[in-house]
Amino acid sequence: MNFLVTGGAGFIGSAVCRHLCANPAYRVTNLDKLTYAGNLASLRPIENAHNYRFAHADICDERAVLDILRRDDIDIVMNLAAESHVDRSIDGPGTFIETNIVGTYRILNSALEYWRGLPEERKSRFRFHHVSTDEVFGDLPFDGGMFVEETPYAPSSPYSASKAASDHLVRAWHETYGLPVVLSNCSNNYGPYHFPEKLIPLVILNALDEKPLPVYGAGANVRDWLFVEDHARALELVATKGTPGESYNVGGNSERTNLSVVETICDLLDIRRPRAGGKSYRDLISFVTDRPGHDRRYAIDASKIGRDLGWAPNENFDSGLARTVDWFLDNKWWWGPIREQHYAGERLGEARKGVA
Ligand code: NAD
Ligand code: TYD
Repeated sequence: MNFLVTGGAGFIGSAVCRHLCANPAYRVTNLDKLTYAGNLASLRPIENAHNYRFAHADICDERAVLDILRRDDIDIVMNLAAESHVDRSIDGPGTFIETNIVGTYRILNSALEYWRGLPEERKSRFRFHHVSTDEVFGDLPFDGGMFVEETPYAPSSPYSASKAASDHLVRAWHETYGLPVVLSNCSNNYGPYHFPEKLIPLVILNALDEKPLPVYGAGANVRDWLFVEDHARALELVATKGTPGESYNVGGNSERTNLSVVETICDLLDIRRPRAGGKSYRDLISFVTDRPGHDRRYAIDASKIGRDLGWAPNENFDSGLARTVDWFLDNKWWWGPIREQHYAGERLGEARKGVA
């Protein structure tokens, strides 16, 4: 079975490529534009694997994508290429519109043209899997409710609005043109190779640098956290066994306030890498201005993917976070150059500074 993973040099896409390549019956093409978030170092464990190849391309380039689909006889497209950081979408929404909405439209065009040309037997097996987020469902109150697949979309940020638009396009290509699509909407991922603009890796690396640990508002906002390798297994199941036209919610059943996430990281580091002077890393916690449009809470009901596809996470939040902290302690070769050359941890998305 031949997979095209878009955004495979990113955090989740690279986990998907590493996971799929472990199966010798699969061949994996990673198509990535290599934006600031794309990093081929994340593919180092598989870069010489016989069943892996990289294609440097933009999902907005219909011709290039079509050529790659044909060249590599693709059976399943897993579309992860996206701009993914809410704070960057506040500072500059333009690239989010371009890649997440226009890019999804363009890759749908490429996939449709490719799919129409396939022989009948391969046509029925083809899948276009669009990888999305729980943030499309919007803001939940602190005191109850969970997102199910039927929850109406109510995105709050330019990022989540662009992902919501892309989900609608994917569904429309199924209803209107018959393209066999599947969708998945997942909660916040964390784990190895996570770009250090997101909360968990930012806090780990700022702590190691003795820098303030920025907590937005009072730190009371709640996210549901899933270890990235559990997400990669879920995505393989959705892509290979999901029912065309359907979507699957994926979550870790691990709701935590941001403050408790940051405190847990501090406690893990206090044991593993005690500070000189004996103080706790908790002393570095700094409450900063809240994110505009900050959704209070996300919570995923993942019972459908458990029932229909037999998926459950292997890690709980404590085991997954300990693995993540250990990975960052052991892999400075990966994050050192990012912190030095690309992003040193400065505040993003504090206020809307203008439209890109
Ligand atoms: P990421 O920002 O780490 O990686 C995105 C990748 O896409 C990068 O390698 C980048 O170079 C590539 N890319 C960007 N624009 C492109 C374009 N026009 N053409 C080709 N490649 C392009 O993102 P991530 O955290 O790995 O997220 C992957 C997907 O999963 C996204 O669609 C995101 O919306 C979704 N998602 C993320 C999370 C999360 O917690 N990170 C949760 C649920 C869903
Ligand atoms: P983030 O990792 O950016 O993911 P998302 O916005 O997609 O949920 O943020 C996770 C939560 O942490 C979110 O509620 C915002 C908050 N946050 C902070 O408190 N401080 C930070 O420095 C960052 C980046 C995020």
